[in-house]
Amino acid sequence: MAKKTIEQVDVASKRVLMRVDFNVPLDDSAAITDDRRIRLALPSIQSVIERQGRLILISHLGRPEGTGSEAKLSLKPAADRLGELLGGASVGFVSEDCVGAEATEAVNALGDGQVLVLENLRFNAGEKAGDSSFANQLAAFGDIYCNDAFGTAHRDDASMVALPNAMNDKPKVAGLLLDREIRFLADTLSHAARPFVAVLGGAKISDKLGAINNLMDKVDVILVGGAMAYTFLEALGREVGSSQVQRGMLPQAQKIIDAAAASPVDLILPNDHVCGKQISRVTPVQIAGESIPQGWMGLDIGPETVGQYAQEIAKAKTIIWNGPLGAFETPPFDVGTKQIAEAIVRATEKGATSVVGGGDMAAAVEQFGLADRFTHISTGGGASLRMLEGKPFPSVDLLDDAN
Ligand code: 3PG
Ligand code: MG
Repeated sequence: MAKKTIEQVDVASKRVLMRVDFNVPLDDSAAITDDRRIRLALPSIQSVIERQGRLILISHLGRPEGTGSEAKLSLKPAADRLGELLGGASVGFVSEDCVGAEATEAVNALGDGQVLVLENLRFNAGEKAGDSSFANQLAAFGDIYCNDAFGTAHRDDASMVALPNAMNDKPKVAGLLLDREIRFLADTLSHAARPFVAVLGGAKISDKLGAINNLMDKVDVILVGGAMAYTFLEALGREVGSSQVQRGMLPQAQKIIDAAAASPVDLILPNDHVCGKQISRVTPVQIAGESIPQGWMGLDIGPETVGQYAQEIAKAKTIIWNGPLGAFETPPFDVGTKQIAEAIVRATEKGATSVVGGGDMAAAVEQFGLADRFTHISTGGGASLRMLEGKPFPSVDLLDDAN
């Protein structure tokens, strides 16, 4: 069911309480290293400002203790960056608690078309606890609640669930980013043009079990890479050397292999590997075939596997990609991930729909200079994976339905 969006409510002179995901990466001096999540929230933000709404932005940043302010996890840099992105517009910031006297005063002083950012929700223990009295305090700030925090949509934190509940009959709408993310991820899954190929990587098979099981009867081909491939290969009795294997997951890996064998889906595992002695830029490197020698660990898919995967991708009309295929942060083990990214870009240019998700993925394609060449790159890591798992999202379900 489609949700009502911020564009479908009258916001003039109304206080719009918008939950965004400004959980952006910061360096040691608290400078933002990737502002994509802020940039992609701009359409919703501008929609409210242009229509003379009074905008109150709330977000978490990082994982503070929940015992009060932590300087390193302040949202002030995000508020400043937002001001820059809005062309130097003044963006108010309340450095005290996100609830309480100072926040209330700033909210009351807000004029039409003005923007205010409140401090990190998670400085208050009530946020992670889903606390309803904390949510009631926030709810008092808004005439309208808007959820544009797709990256956090899989969390039941107070600002995501208790807060919209506390809004009672006031409008609760989706932001434009949330709306777009759900459309691409959910609709791609339910109405995929075929062949439909899933590319799944990452370190741990345990993180991807739910997604693999859910995708099994939806996609035509699953291409596996990343360290999780070695748990599958170990389950098949292959020599994997000192590759990272989740031994406790071997029975689950075997179950997936058996389920794939009994179903029309092709589960394809790498059959050659770029190996090192350890994850390092200066480790000796060799390409191994099916068997990885003792003392070597598979750290990337090999050239033959890249070729085979690229052929499958070239035939696809729909591609979803979650998780890197190797240790892409440590060259030379970035090559497989990069070449698969390029193969997906080529398929996209020929008309396929490509949806990229997963915490590391936006950074990876940015690093390769390929951002914006996919149909959709999700701002959600855990959230996009949860969508691939087919799990419900209470934070989204309780927003108002579109008429
Ligand atoms: C994310 O970056 O995954 C979201 O902002 C959610 O953050 P969390 O994993 O700390 O809940
Ligand atoms: Mg991960």
